[in-house]
Amino acid sequence: MKAKIVLLPGDGIGPEIVTQATRVLETVAKKHGHEFAFESYQIGGIAIDTCGDPLPQETIDACRASDAILLGAVGGPKWDDPSAKTRPEAGLLKIRKELGLFANLRPIRLFDQLVDASPLRREIIEGTDILFFRELTGGIYFGESGRTGSGTTEAAFQSMVYSVGEVERIVRLAAKAAQGRDNRLTSVDKANVLEPSRLWRQVAARVMADEFPDVQYDVVLVDAMAMHLINRPRDFDVVVTGNMFGDILTDEASMLPGSLGMLPSASLGESGPGLYEPIHGSAPDIAGKDIANPLATILAAAMLLRHSLDLDAEAESVESAVASVLEDGLRTSDIARGAASIGTEAMGSAVVARLSN
Ligand code: IPM
Ligand code: MG
Repeated sequence: MKAKIVLLPGDGIGPEIVTQATRVLETVAKKHGHEFAFESYQIGGIAIDTCGDPLPQETIDACRASDAILLGAVGGPKWDDPSAKTRPEAGLLKIRKELGLFANLRPIRLFDQLVDASPLRREIIEGTDILFFRELTGGIYFGESGRTGSGTTEAAFQSMVYSVGEVERIVRLAAKAAQGRDNRLTSVDKANVLEPSRLWRQVAARVMADEFPDVQYDVVLVDAMAMHLINRPRDFDVVVTGNMFGDILTDEASMLPGSLGMLPSASLGESGPGLYEPIHGSAPDIAGKDIANPLATILAAAMLLRHSLDLDAEAESVESAVASVLEDGLRTSDIARGAASIGTEAMGSAVVARLSN
């Protein structure tokens, strides 16, 4: 198979981890006789520095013309000034919106080998396997915002808006995914306080009753969900929620497998290329030091193989290679819990070596 893959390394540790994931994809291509063409474009802070725009038009055009996109991370203290004209994160939000990537899949999968790297006790987390569907192109992230007044009465607002169609399509995708797993779906909202959540709850209930009566369905308030994730994570199969709740809950859930450095994500639309990225940020404090964990990005590359290129066996081979390096005791410092660790590039090489065998 031939595929055009756009690389968006971005800021901080982004370039280092994307380099390792690209090596992994190159190895897969070579081994299985595929032709992957990689092209790198700018997004985020680096794009602001070179052309004043966190998402240059040529990046958008290249993404549209691609089969899949692999992104590192955006942002950093250099671009954090709250009064700045634009921010690196705006580039990420815009590419999601431009490509219609409304469904963000964030699997929380536990590697047996890392159970003891989790801050939680083995008996609580063992057996955890959750697939989050975070709505990605609506909600408060994209609501109208602004400032009014001045002095002590200056105020800022940002509205949370969800339409029926937006809720229907993400709930449908999540429910279908549940059917292929343990057939359970949990919808998370704040319907006791927020109007968009009440709409979300009504629409979700209707979609589930009309189209997925076989799927076991329940609803949980987001504050309670924050608690349940720590207390009884095993009880959840597929979870669907809005943009901001999904952002927060998936960072929390990332601690179940021990590190944010292990979790990949896929952002998908109705059609067109998907975008794959680690769920962690740009970690500017450790950028350029060869200590970042590349495994989340490598696992994101596996999701790219599966969801955008339909290469299931290849995706599984990458996931097994990751499991195998962990099995051999190789750890970057974020998952070493004080024991000996290896660097970003060495970890990439270890995965590549397992794949080339
Ligand atoms: C994420 C990140 C982004 C988000 C930021 C970098 C804009 O936290 O992908 O979870 O909030 O969506
Ligand atoms: Mg986040």
